Amino acid sequence: MSSVPKVFVAGATGLLGGRIVRALLDRGAPVRALVRPGTDEEKRNALTALRADGLEVVEGDISDPAERLAEAVGDAAAVVSAVQGGPEVIVDGQVNLVRAAEKAGARRFVPSDFAVDVTKIDDGDNFMMDWRRRAAAAYADSPLEVVSVLNGAFYEVMTGFMGLVDWEQGTLSHWGDPDQPIDITSVADTAAYTAAAVLDPDATGTLRFAGEVTSMRRFHEDVQRGSGRTLRLRHLGSADDLRAEIARQASLTSNPFDYVALQYQWCMVSGKAKFDTLDNARYPEVTPQSLADFVRATTSAS
Ligand SMILES: NC(=O)c1ccc[n+]([C@@H]2O[C@H](COP(=O)([O-])OP(=O)(O)OC[C@H]3O[C@@H](n4cnc5c(N)ncnc54)[C@H](OP(=O)(O)O)[C@@H]3O)[C@@H](O)[C@H]2O)c1
Repeated sequence: MSSVPKVFVAGATGLLGGRIVRALLDRGAPVRALVRPGTDEEKRNALTALRADGLEVVEGDISDPAERLAEAVGDAAAVVSAVQGGPEVIVDGQVNLVRAAEKAGARRFVPSDFAVDVTKIDDGDNFMMDWRRRAAAAYADSPLEVVSVLNGAFYEVMTGFMGLVDWEQGTLSHWGDPDQPIDITSVADTAAYTAAAVLDPDATGTLRFAGEVTSMRRFHEDVQRGSGRTLRLRHLGSADDLRAEIARQASLTSNPFDYVALQYQWCMVSGKAKFDTLDNARYPEVTPQSLADFVRATTSAS
């Protein structure tokens, strides 16, 4: 029998959750993954292929009645949430998951935070972070040890979803002071740090990791170096101009997802959600990939 505690992972079919499962298995932890009944068949198959490495798959949803969800958690000592969704998932679902973990006798909960420094921003700065703070307030009375893992922005998001790099136009756009320090980490390294923290009996509170502390100027240089492409750096305005642009867009749409990428950028380029300290040194065995190497690997693969 393994002496490494069993870990329950919700959101295991997701971008980050799947990597966390792999990183936990690599550390010899038995893992039980929660998979929704209607989940994508390909994602389910990718997970079930890991059974030989010590993965158990249980069906369920974090909104299931707490009694049933507690059965799914079973004898896991730690519960990791890597779910993504609206307030019904991030607030109600995660609170339900904490209650189920308590019932099951788990000791530790890692919420689906994985972001810039949520402890430093205010309500209204980023609506998706507001939900995470609301969830944390709702389970603050829990006897579980809560370990929150923060990683800044994913390399994958900075070079993709944020819309900063336009390969066709040959531009890289940014708001704010190009030399403002920002925290960024790859999905794989975030997962590796998360697995290390989950299995570390001394881990507690909020842990902050960064693959790189960079700036938009250095980000531009590294994306060019990694891709071998020349990209014109476009300055879109100050951090205050970005705040005004977010307010303008918010007045035009009832869907806040239309401007959430700008809210994440503002949290970074304003410096408000910058990490004051890093916990990388707790886990020296995790050697994060550089942004330039990440870009080299992803652009040569595509
Ligand atoms: N710092 C950054 O730059 C950054 C960027 C992206 C994400 N993140 C954070 O990383 C975390 C994970 O995001 P992700 O991009 O990996 O998400 P994702 O790929 O969209 O995956 C979400 C996962 O949650 C599961 N899920 C959703 N609702 C559920 C429910 N009711 N019950 C059980 N499982 C449920 C999904 O299951 P199905 O497969 O069945 O849908 C899926 O496994 C989030 O906290 C997110 O905010 C951070």
